[in-house]
Amino acid sequence: MAIVAPARRLRGTLRVPGDKSISHRYAIFAAIAEGASTIADYAPGADCRSSLNCLRALGVGVREERPGVVTVVGRGFDALRSAESPLDAGNSGTTMRLLAGLLAGRGFSSTIVGDASLSRRPMRRVIEPLEAMGARIDASEGRPPLTIRGSRLHAITHRPQIPSAQVKSAVLLAGLQADGTTKVVEPAATRDHTERALAAFGGIASVSGLEIAVAGGQRLAGQALTVPGDFSSAAFWLVGAAALPGSQIEILDVGLNPTRTALLAVLRRFGARVDVVTTGMNAGEPRGTVTVAHQQSGSIEIGPGEVPGLIDELPAIAALAAHGGEVTVRGAAELRVKESDRIATLVAGFRSLGLDAEERPNGFTVRGTSTGSRRPADGAADARGDHRMAMAFAIAALAADRPCRIEGADSVAISYPDFFATLDRLRAS
Ligand code: S3P
Repeated sequence: MAIVAPARRLRGTLRVPGDKSISHRYAIFAAIAEGASTIADYAPGADCRSSLNCLRALGVGVREERPGVVTVVGRGFDALRSAESPLDAGNSGTTMRLLAGLLAGRGFSSTIVGDASLSRRPMRRVIEPLEAMGARIDASEGRPPLTIRGSRLHAITHRPQIPSAQVKSAVLLAGLQADGTTKVVEPAATRDHTERALAAFGGIASVSGLEIAVAGGQRLAGQALTVPGDFSSAAFWLVGAAALPGSQIEILDVGLNPTRTALLAVLRRFGARVDVVTTGMNAGEPRGTVTVAHQQSGSIEIGPGEVPGLIDELPAIAALAAHGGEVTVRGAAELRVKESDRIATLVAGFRSLGLDAEERPNGFTVRGTSTGSRRPADGAADARGDHRMAMAFAIAALAADRPCRIEGADSVAISYPDFFATLDRLRAS
């Protein structure tokens, strides 16, 4: 539980924790590469720790040299060994789905379990293509735990029904072990960290529009890498700065991969001043400085076409409504199968904070209240154990006129352990 007091504005310059999506991928590619890799600014949250623990259990040498610096000693795919007990992906869908792809091509069986939230999440989206490639995967009604009986794989062309970087990455990781060239044809572009990371480790992913192809049998080499700041963690501060008059937040060394930064256009539409300076590129991932300052507040509508590029930022975007205006999101049914049912969690939580919120099967509308007041009443919002919901409620609560209670706030440990300490630093009294 956390109590969040109102804030007049947010101001400051900061770095955010290393990118979660990129950290998972660097750890996994390092594990199957040959030689030692060093990963600096590895994401500090519990999800990326789950990936490291699973890789350790598979016989990979993983050492945390000092906080944030991880060394992984890979010896190729064939050095992976069957784990003695089930692999625990914790709360991390990325860990479970990417490891399913990795383990589908190994000559042993593996079981991957998750926590209560992950155990409710749909896995058919990876089971079906991996079985089509030759693996056998047991699950109960398409949900975890997964028992993966790895085998020799053959290439497929997979056309997922829903845009998902996790599904794409699972199939590509299996494809690296398959006979022939495996292709994924996406229904819409998703984050491309797997493709960029594969190239950084000396592999090749051929990308042509929405089609990504990998040949089996590629050999990867260990690398020294630095993970950029997580744009999805930065999103909460950027939204807070856009929304609260007098705010300005500058985020240094944040990842600027264009498949992740669609929020910036949304904040401009809202009326914020947004400046972006690219300062460097590491392993194919651009990074730089993002500055957002409040100017005006508007209303925001997000349609289905924008959803894949904003999938993790939609809870933060909803918090814009607490500070004035209205936020409507359509075509986002995927939100129902994230760490919580984010449409239900969001609508219930924002209502508890005193806002008007409407739930639809594929989206929601949140309004600063129909009574004319833009300020949420004091109240308690339950994040239902979902890190991004806890952070979205905290940013919304800054607009209240009294402190608000956020239940399940400990879940920020999944991606941003220092979130509340950072909030205290950025709030200007
Ligand atoms: C992720 C992809 C997205 C995202 C998740 C991380 C990844 O999920 O919501 O937080 O690292 O590939 P989907 O690919 O299932 O949409």
